[in-house]
Amino acid sequence: LGKQFEQKSLSGKTVTITAGPTREAIDPVRYISNHSSGKMGFALAQAAVEAGANVNLICGPVTLATPERVNRIDVESCQNMYDAVFETLPNTDIFIGAAAVADYRPATTADHKIKKQSDAMSIELVRNPDIISSVAATENKPFTVGFAAETQDVSGYAKGKLISKNLDMIIANDVSDKSIGFNSEDNAVVVIGHNYETSHGKANKYHLARVIVEHIAECLETQ
Ligand code: CTP
Ligand code: CA
Repeated sequence: LGKQFEQKSLSGKTVTITAGPTREAIDPVRYISNHSSGKMGFALAQAAVEAGANVNLICGPVTLATPERVNRIDVESCQNMYDAVFETLPNTDIFIGAAAVADYRPATTADHKIKKQSDAMSIELVRNPDIISSVAATENKPFTVGFAAETQDVSGYAKGKLISKNLDMIIANDVSDKSIGFNSEDNAVVVIGHNYETSHGKANKYHLARVIVEHIAECLETQ
């Protein structure tokens, strides 16, 4: 470990990373979201800068400090994130989708704060666009890396996503273990490509980010 960093193996490359949750507005004061902290994406941004890359970090609402030399773009909804990703895409060599993007959004956003009425209410949801699949479907697609947080058959589901989303690499993590993943400092991941699978046991997210960046740099070298 460390070789890729000393050689600044990603120098001259632009890496675009999505991180954190998205917020899908119900009305001016309410939204649907999730518990993603953004830590893994921010750690990847720092590791990529240290490997010599230019880094765009497109993030939903998080409470983290921006790593030095990172171009941070703040967004709220999946649609905002999608637009920001496609704006940076022409200059992107490597795309990493670390965001926990909301799969659905309210079909409509009320202009005013919704008043309570009956004893029960329901909100109609519609599917959000799949950002990483759209990136991977473009002509001249960047080297595209996804994440998969699963609670069962982790590597099986992750491999399915690698193929169905046309990714080059997917980082799988088991979120059924509460001591790792979403809001924690640590993570444990399996790095999966089309002809390899490497497990990395529980470690600090920043350490794992460097491991992941090294995997990516090695793939690009042999491409
Ligand atoms: N992703 C994305 N846009 C979405 C949903 C997901 O770019 N609208 C990306 C995530 O950033 C991640 C990868 O897709 O890199 C996998 O996300 P995940 O939620 O595990 O996959 P889904 O396809 O949404 O499947 P699931 O039904 O299991 O949630
Ligand atoms: Ca999802």
